[in-house]
Amino acid sequence: MSGADIKAVSLALSGANIESFNTNGQIAVTGRGREITQEDIARVHEAARAVSISMDREILHVIPRSYTVDDQKGIRNPLHMTGVRLECGVHIITGSVSTVQNMFKCVTRAGYRVEQSYLGILGCARTVLTEDERDLGCLLIDIGGGTTDFMIFAESEPVFTSAVPAGGSQITGDISIMLSIPVDAAEHLKKESGAAWTEAIDPDETVIVPGFGAREPVELERRKLVSIVQPRVEEIFEMVNERLVKNGLKELIKAGVVLTGGSALLPHIDECARSVFGVPVRIGTPAAMSGLDAEYRSPAFSAAVGVALLEAERTGATTDPGGRKKTRKGKQGSFSLIKWIKDRFF
Ligand SMILES: Nc1ncnc2c1ncn2[C@@H]1O[C@H](COP(=O)(O)OP(=O)(O)OP(=O)(O)O)[C@@H](O)[C@H]1O
Ligand SMILES: [Mg+2]
Repeated sequence: MSGADIKAVSLALSGANIESFNTNGQIAVTGRGREITQEDIARVHEAARAVSISMDREILHVIPRSYTVDDQKGIRNPLHMTGVRLECGVHIITGSVSTVQNMFKCVTRAGYRVEQSYLGILGCARTVLTEDERDLGCLLIDIGGGTTDFMIFAESEPVFTSAVPAGGSQITGDISIMLSIPVDAAEHLKKESGAAWTEAIDPDETVIVPGFGAREPVELERRKLVSIVQPRVEEIFEMVNERLVKNGLKELIKAGVVLTGGSALLPHIDECARSVFGVPVRIGTPAAMSGLDAEYRSPAFSAAVGVALLEAERTGATTDPGGRKKTRKGKQGSFSLIKWIKDRFF
């Protein structure tokens, strides 16, 4: 579309194989005057990521959450502080080695060089969430095609990352089965006339279900179409909500829920989410920035826009494109995935 000749890409990973946990690392500060240096910070990140995970999983991201210098907790940036002991609490996100390898191979075989990989929802968070939402605590949900990824932020940093294996494809599948129409026609009907909250639909409104083969097109109450979509959307949100409740995270989402991803384009999906989570809900779109055309300011492009921003920040290609603070250097921790795959497979 842009006419640019693309050779290298930054991957936005997603999938039900994504898991996370929080842990911490500790080091003794050894430098002159016990002043914490960039090397100390790198060492404490390394110490935090030295956890044993199963052979079939790989660390995708190590995200520093906060630091403790001696007994002083909750420090965002310990550089140049003085102390004897530096501790760092981190959020670690892991993925299935084979799933990531397969994605990497697909892109490589399509003729592109993978420059870097990011969890797609981290990209969404970068461009969609406000500072206040991250600070106060919120739930970000990226409803895609095959997966719904979600992440909880508290005190600005991620505390929980997970995914459920359902998304827009299942909604389309339901429409196809219930109305006995091909998947392509169901997808089109969903995008044209679907919605996720029956009560919001005028009972007199009708849609045309396309014919195919010997079958004539038929008129259908739009409410009937929406009554196919809504239960699946509710089921997806309930799976997310159950995971929150099970992990005791519900009270963290004080700023509410932000929905993004292609399926967040379903009209009234915020009402459906509000009924399940019982907190305020908004639809998240990429933040305005120069060079971003209006058509990309859609929930469907959140991950792509956000990952492009993260990569621009990593490589120093930008100063502050989204109007937010520049990411601290090394903030995402040492990200070894690409090197790991290249070393083993190419
Ligand atoms: N206008 C729309 N109304 C409803 N659903 C839509 C609309 N536009 C796109 N979708 C749905 O969004 C989904 C794709 O979303 P997205 O592009 O975020 O997924 P993805 O990131 O490619 O997939 P995944 O995250 O599952 O790997 C599809 O199921 C598609 O039907
Ligand atoms: Mg996605």
